[in-house]
Amino acid sequence: MSFPIVRHRRLRQSAGIRNMVRETVLNIEDLVQPIFVTYGTGVKTEISSMPGVFHFSLDTLKEEVDEIAALGIPAVLLFGIPESKDSVGTSGFVDNGIVQEATRLIKEWYPDLLVIADTCLCEFTDHGHCGMVHTFERDGHVHGDVMNDESLELLARTAVSQAKAGADIIAPSNMMDGFVQAIRTALDEEGFQHIPIMSYSVKYASAFYGPFREAADSAPQFGDRKTYQMDPANVREALREAESDVLEGADMLMVKPALAYLDIVRLLRDQFDLPLVAYNVSGEYSMVKAAANQGWINEQAIVMEMLTGMKRAGADIIITYFSKDAARWIRNR
Ligand code: PBG
Repeated sequence: MSFPIVRHRRLRQSAGIRNMVRETVLNIEDLVQPIFVTYGTGVKTEISSMPGVFHFSLDTLKEEVDEIAALGIPAVLLFGIPESKDSVGTSGFVDNGIVQEATRLIKEWYPDLLVIADTCLCEFTDHGHCGMVHTFERDGHVHGDVMNDESLELLARTAVSQAKAGADIIAPSNMMDGFVQAIRTALDEEGFQHIPIMSYSVKYASAFYGPFREAADSAPQFGDRKTYQMDPANVREALREAESDVLEGADMLMVKPALAYLDIVRLLRDQFDLPLVAYNVSGEYSMVKAAANQGWINEQAIVMEMLTGMKRAGADIIITYFSKDAARWIRNR
C-alpha cells in the first residue's frame, strides 16, 4: 500500500488552518450600496422584483443612509427617479434634480460617506434611452437612433451638476463613445479636476438589468440598447472598450454584469492596472432572492460565495444590492 505524497487536506483540517491559508477575503471596505431616490414625501416603496430594495423620497432617505453608514459601508451609488421626463433628460442635469438633492443631503449628514453618481440619461428621458435620440417612423413603428456626439454634451452637463452637488465620484454608465473624455474635460473646466471617474467601461447589453429597469423606470420605449451596450458574446471588444477609457483618463474600470462575466473581470485585472469594479446587477440579486424566499438555497452562503468569487476574479470593488447584508455577515464572521 502506497500513500499519497502530497496531501491537500492537511491545510483544510480545521477552521484555524483554513483561515490562515485563505487567499481571498471580502471586506466591508470593498462594498458599494446602490440607492434609488424618488420625489414625493413619506415614500419607502419596495421594488417588487427586488425584495429588500426600496425607493426612498428625500425625507425617508436618512434612515437608509444611517444604516449604511453604521455598517461601515464606504460608498453609495445613487439612481434617481425624477418627477418629469423629456426627450433630453433635463431632470438629470438641473441643479435641483433628485440625484443632486439627495447628494447634498447625504454629504451634509455623512461627509465621509462616498457618494457615487451614476451618470446616464435613461432614467430622465421619456424614451428611456441613455442618450439623445433621433426618432422616425417606418412600417408603422417608431424607430430611433441614439445620437452619440449630441449626447456627450448632455452627459457632461449631468456629471458637472452632480459634482457641484457634492458627488465624490462620477460613474458614467451610458456607453456612448468618448464619454470619459467628454466628462473629464467638462469636470476639469469647471474646477473638478480632483473628482475621479469610475467608468462603466465594459457594459454588456444584458437581460440581467430587467429588475433595475422596473426600479428606475428606465426601460427603453422602443428598440433596445444593443447599438451602444456590448454584445455578451464578445471578449476582445472588452479590451478595446477598457483601453479607450484608460486613454481618455478613466480612474477606475468596471465590468457589468458580474456573474456571467467573471472571465472579463479576470481579463481586465490581468491587462490593466487601474482599480477594477464588478457590478453585481439587479437580475443577479432577484434570482438569489427568489430562490432564497422559496427556501431552495442558503442565501447567506450563496451571496458570500458569489461576492468572494467576484473578488477572486480580480475585482477590487463590488457594487451590490446585498451590501448591507454582506456587511452584517462580515461583521459576525
Ligand atoms: C443606466 C444603468 C443601468 C444599470 C445601471 N445603470 C440600466 C441599463 O443600462 O439598462 C443597471 C443596474 C442593474 O441592473 O442593477 N444606464
